[in-house]
Amino acid sequence: MDYLAVLGRQKNISLAELESLFDNVSILSPKLATFKFTKSSPVNEAGEPDIDRLGGTMKLAREIKNPLEYIIDDIKSSGYDGKIVIGVSDYSKKSSPRTSQRWALDLKAKLRKTEIIPGKKPSVRILANKSADLSTATVYHNHLCKKPGHYEILHFANRWFVGIGVQDIDAYTSRDQARPARDAKVGMLPPKLAQILINLCGPLPKNATILDPFCGTGVVLQEAFLMNFRPYGTDLSDRMVEYSERNLDWITHDEKPDFLLEQGDATNHSWKQPIDAIACEGYLGPPMSLAPADIKMKDAMHDCKAIIVGFFKNVYEQIASGTPIAMAIPAWLRPDGSYQRLNILDELESLGYNVMKYKNTSQRDLLYYRDGQVVAREIIVLRKK
Ligand SMILES: C[S@@+](CC[C@H](N)C(=O)[O-])C[C@H]1O[C@@H](n2cnc3c(N)ncnc32)[C@H](O)[C@@H]1O
Repeated sequence: MDYLAVLGRQKNISLAELESLFDNVSILSPKLATFKFTKSSPVNEAGEPDIDRLGGTMKLAREIKNPLEYIIDDIKSSGYDGKIVIGVSDYSKKSSPRTSQRWALDLKAKLRKTEIIPGKKPSVRILANKSADLSTATVYHNHLCKKPGHYEILHFANRWFVGIGVQDIDAYTSRDQARPARDAKVGMLPPKLAQILINLCGPLPKNATILDPFCGTGVVLQEAFLMNFRPYGTDLSDRMVEYSERNLDWITHDEKPDFLLEQGDATNHSWKQPIDAIACEGYLGPPMSLAPADIKMKDAMHDCKAIIVGFFKNVYEQIASGTPIAMAIPAWLRPDGSYQRLNILDELESLGYNVMKYKNTSQRDLLYYRDGQVVAREIIVLRKK
């Protein structure tokens, strides 16, 4: 059975995340990819891919043969007798709000004629389409993939899918903004990107230890805990270690679960074993609000490279062959709009790491940024040879 992912804004990163966890990932259209899951793929309680742990996917859906039959069967098996709510997202090439609305009206008319529960014709509400595909916020706020009797039906080139999850906008915002210890100077790693970094390490067993050697305020650690992994954070700064501790206490409700925090310089620290995977945002250099002058950028590049490559050299003897490392490293906006990379992949290969390869994208394209952002994040994914 095929699953469908509606990709996030940074499509290449979304594709790499899907490839890291699932099989047969194929691009259907600029916004869509299909995939299958394997035994080792993470699933939710319903045994399906879990939208809440995929930072790069906006919506998830499962392929169905026919939306009318699907809805009738689902209502029959759940015994739901309230109002049916349906939204249609048409992703086909020539789609428009009108094509989506037509599909929705057609479904409504057919359902209204069907006595799903004997003696009772169902009441059906369809959502208005401002665009051919419903926005994440519309699907989320109308509980389309959550409540019984509420459906998002997705259409693409004669294929039909039913929504099984949409990104929980409020949960991400609250994890990001309600943390007790925040520090704008060390950067604000979005929780979504922290999830992506962890997922880029591939499927990992429950309770696997995830090391973040540049843990800062602990966003990666917090997401690792929520994904049932064991967080292990270190940072050069005592203050950051304390911030991570406060944030972990907050997210774990002071249950004192199994997490580890230490002060340490990533270029010479000796970590405790085991280390099953490393997911982190490395040192990004000083915050900048304008594209830097050449000299300022060269200084920043030099400092960041020394710390990041120094970390790779130091950790090499401390991890087993095959250990995955997913890291966000800085890239700087240039006056012509391009981004200057650190260009360290060849050096890391020569130190004894394999650079991950993807079927649908390339490492060069894993750049995470908002329009005009001066310090962007390049995502690198490697495994010790
Ligand atoms: C971009 S921040 C990471 C922010 C983090 N992702 C968070 O959730 O807040 C980089 C961190 O690297 C730390 N750092 C800088 N040089 C370091 C080194 N040599 N060893 C370990 N940590 C270092 C800084 O103290 C800072 O907290």
